[in-house]
Amino acid sequence: MATAHKSRSKNGPSNNMVNLDSGTISREIFVSPEIYAQEQEQLFARAWLFIGHESQVSKPGDFFVSSMGEESVILCRDRQGEVHVFLNSCAHRGMKVCRYDEGNTPVFSCPYHGWSYATDGKLVGVPYFKDAYQEKLDKSKWGLPEVAQICNYKGAIWATWDKHAPSFKEYMGGFLTYLDFLLDTWDGAGGEVEVFGGVEKWVIPCNWKFPAENFIGDRYHNISHRSVDMVGQGPSGSGRRDMQEREGATALDISFPERGHGTITFLRADDKVIPAYQHSKIVSEYFAHCEAERRKNYGQWARLVPGPSTVFPNMSYLPRQPRTISAWHPRSPDSHEAWRWFLIDKNAPAEVKEFLRHYYISYSGPAGLTEQDDMENWNYAHNASQGVIARRFPYNYQMGMGFDGPPLDTDGLDMPGKIRNVTTAKAAEHNQRGFYQRWSEFMNAGDWDTLATWRNGHANGTNTGNGKAL
Ligand code: FES
Ligand code: FE
Repeated sequence: MATAHKSRSKNGPSNNMVNLDSGTISREIFVSPEIYAQEQEQLFARAWLFIGHESQVSKPGDFFVSSMGEESVILCRDRQGEVHVFLNSCAHRGMKVCRYDEGNTPVFSCPYHGWSYATDGKLVGVPYFKDAYQEKLDKSKWGLPEVAQICNYKGAIWATWDKHAPSFKEYMGGFLTYLDFLLDTWDGAGGEVEVFGGVEKWVIPCNWKFPAENFIGDRYHNISHRSVDMVGQGPSGSGRRDMQEREGATALDISFPERGHGTITFLRADDKVIPAYQHSKIVSEYFAHCEAERRKNYGQWARLVPGPSTVFPNMSYLPRQPRTISAWHPRSPDSHEAWRWFLIDKNAPAEVKEFLRHYYISYSGPAGLTEQDDMENWNYAHNASQGVIARRFPYNYQMGMGFDGPPLDTDGLDMPGKIRNVTTAKAAEHNQRGFYQRWSEFMNAGDWDTLATWRNGHANGTNTGNGKAL
């Protein structure tokens, strides 16, 4: 039986709430209002966060209202074509300047007193500027606050409020290798990828870390999806998704504990047959063509079948079918908004897009069969962890501790990250422990000099793995 946690910190997480030596994590970090409040400052105000995709703001004046932690932000392409992210809160009295989800506008006019802001966030219009302000208001100082740093990485827009944060590429380190499989075109040829359909948004009554840690490495919960496996929900009609291409492949858990990211990946033999999409000849031929091109463009890297992944802290993705991005936006200790973008190659045939649209929404999101399975677990787990008795007992993250799995032969692929061969073990929780190691560092560190552990050579992990099991 687990040992009860005797003390609760009133000032935020004490070090023993995330105890990676014992493999235990206190339930407090999921349910405590104090810790939740501290996360907003320590984590969401400092980390790089996913905002949206450039295809959502392709023309000048296009905007998409997104979220950074609890706060509403506007992703907007200005008249000159530059992309900005600024706070969706009027500089005068805080009114939400834009209450639409997305659109195109020449200006953002505040509904309260009428201050208006250009598409670059600058204050350009103030009612009674001459009479009420005697023209003394310095408009240049009262624009919408803009993020400290923004990065467009292969069409994905990221931002941070912290000017001391490292560049996005440094923040990601070697994990970019795995993110590329999501953001590149299916054939790896460098064409355009776009968001298609709307962004699904819904509230899940559980802490945001439940889905983030599930996507980073929870192979263990497959029992939850037994029904969708049985009905063959996947695009090839014979499994949940492209399970055939995983058959016989080496199962790898890849963790970046010094950065918090992680991914589930499979390494297949080069001659592995790709699945046929039995329901549609055009779809099947399209993916067969893409896969052949992918092998040419990626070489040996095409042997990787990437799976669920999380970019620390709250962006998760599935890089293959379905190909989606999700952001888990915190709203309270007990709830978050799940947002889900669907990606597709811009030049894919209309029939392929239509086929995938149906498949994606049947798989993911509030109506998706697979995601419904997951949400049942997260909701009930959170709810059953809130009571004063339940909160005395930690969760167990001991799976695979001290066991790195059998040696791994990657045939020369220099794969970044801490890589573990979990083919025989079936599952492990290295990735989850890496996520919470990083979470703990963020919650306890005062600045980025401390957080950028990889700069001073005492990182707990490596991002330049040499293909050996670590
Ligand atoms: Fe926006 Fe007053 S709150 S103009
Ligand atoms: Fe799941």
